[in-house]
Amino acid sequence: MTLATHTSTALKSAAPHHKLLPRRVRFDLTQSPLHWIPHDPEASYIINSIHLLLPAGEFWFCRVYNKVLPQIKDERLRSDVQGFIRQEAIHARSHETALEDYLSAHGVRTAEMLQLASLIFDNLLADRPLGMPDNFMTRRLDGWWLRQRVGIIAAIEHFTCVFGKWVVESEALNAPNIDPAMLDLFRWHGAEEVEHRNVAHELHEAIGGTARERQAWALVVFPALFGLLALGSNQMMRRDPGVAPDSFFRRWWRSGKTGTLPSIESVLAAGLRYFEPDYHPDSEAPLELALAYFAKSPAVQAAMAREPVQGKSVAA
Ligand SMILES: [Fe+2]
Ligand SMILES: [Fe+2]
Repeated sequence: MTLATHTSTALKSAAPHHKLLPRRVRFDLTQSPLHWIPHDPEASYIINSIHLLLPAGEFWFCRVYNKVLPQIKDERLRSDVQGFIRQEAIHARSHETALEDYLSAHGVRTAEMLQLASLIFDNLLADRPLGMPDNFMTRRLDGWWLRQRVGIIAAIEHFTCVFGKWVVESEALNAPNIDPAMLDLFRWHGAEEVEHRNVAHELHEAIGGTARERQAWALVVFPALFGLLALGSNQMMRRDPGVAPDSFFRRWWRSGKTGTLPSIESVLAAGLRYFEPDYHPDSEAPLELALAYFAKSPAVQAAMAREPVQGKSVAA
């Protein structure tokens, strides 16, 4: 552990514990247009491609964390991991709703990408590495493979925090013609990603994972994430006659310039930050940003009105 990480961890343990609680939000996406950022259909599709990956991906996070849970003796980390699992399960279900009530309702074909997401998360990253058969040899890799999978989640969670901070703060997404339900879904999700940004990193450290391991996985995870977003959004846009053919990179570049996506430069800088020796996700975004959004999110406020104890910021 580097000195900076050690100091950050020491400061955190002195601070009151922010308990992660699930918020049982609901979103009515039945009226949301496919081009929910009306002046930027391409950014709408690129962000929509997240719906294709997250149900499989986030349920996989939950399965991996449930496997690690018996190893965690530290009460604070255990509470964080349990809170993370509950939050990610609700994220996955919310994006499933988007698949059913929104993308499918608009006639968008999702089967190929859902199969690919299932191949990755339910097969290649399942309990036997890369879908290898279950036998005494692969079972001997159990501890190592579990740690690698937590390292993969830590790398993914770096970008979910970066994207979460961006989506909550984006001025361009405050334009009045943007679909409020879809925006609230992504902003609530983004805010919870900021809220639980430290959990995967600290869990990986707690089970013996090293910065080198996390960085090595980042070299695979970062290009794979953007490759999957490109594949998913290009497939959807190819079938939309209202969108001119173009490359994923040029589309992202344009939307990054107008602020309907994070700029390419900011994404590259975020990727590089992960390789800094004193990297810790705590410094990627402040918790207060997330809490301020929960206080004004229509879905979170409605959820709290239905069930007042959930989602409150609790010091324990
Ligand atoms: Fe999530
Ligand atoms: Fe997350």
